[in-house]
Amino acid sequence: MELFLDTANLTEIRDAAQYGVISGVTTNPSLIAQEKGRDFHEILQEITQLIPGPVSAEVLSTTAAGMYQEATKLAGIRDNIVIKIPMTREGIKCVPLLAKEGIKTNVTLVFSLNQALLAARAGATYVSPFVGRLDDVGHDGISLVREIVEVLRLHNLSTKVIAASIRHPMHVMEAARVGSHIATIPYKVFLQLFEHPMTALGLEKFQKDWEAKLK
Ligand code: E4P
Repeated sequence: MELFLDTANLTEIRDAAQYGVISGVTTNPSLIAQEKGRDFHEILQEITQLIPGPVSAEVLSTTAAGMYQEATKLAGIRDNIVIKIPMTREGIKCVPLLAKEGIKTNVTLVFSLNQALLAARAGATYVSPFVGRLDDVGHDGISLVREIVEVLRLHNLSTKVIAASIRHPMHVMEAARVGSHIATIPYKVFLQLFEHPMTALGLEKFQKDWEAKLK
């Protein structure tokens, strides 16, 4: 399973990029809005420079024509831009238009298997089921990821699944176990993946023992 970072914060992206384990970035309007005073296109230019892999940028129009227009502008920023399209009827109309132009898409705000199937049939490159937000309303987000992965495989659909709305390290492990192609994770959760108390204790003991030997 590949790891993407779910943020528009350049400091977080710059730090995470150093480890060589992040292969893409996803943003959304809420994440971009947190970067006060920064221009949307400028932020994307910098992110695409830091991360050579896919960088998702979301459109805000509500019509297929509007989305298409926005998407072609965003796609011109750099060739690793992926256009995030909301899972609406207009959005699904727009996906094949972009696919025809060779523009990659990530269909977002997916909460059901049927929505994922529609996105895949429209030719989406990626589909993003929102795990945490499903859990929030008493559904099982990871089960949806499992179902989508299985059904896309069963019908030879090449759309890749991005487990999104990840809230904690357990979500990352579960997404990997059910075969999600990608998990997009907030920076805070990314840092948590490194940690285990036994690693910290083990290291402390090795250092203490080594110092004792030198005395
Ligand atoms: C996905 O691409 C979205 O940006 C993101 O995962 C949404 O997560 P949230 O539910 O924590 O806002």
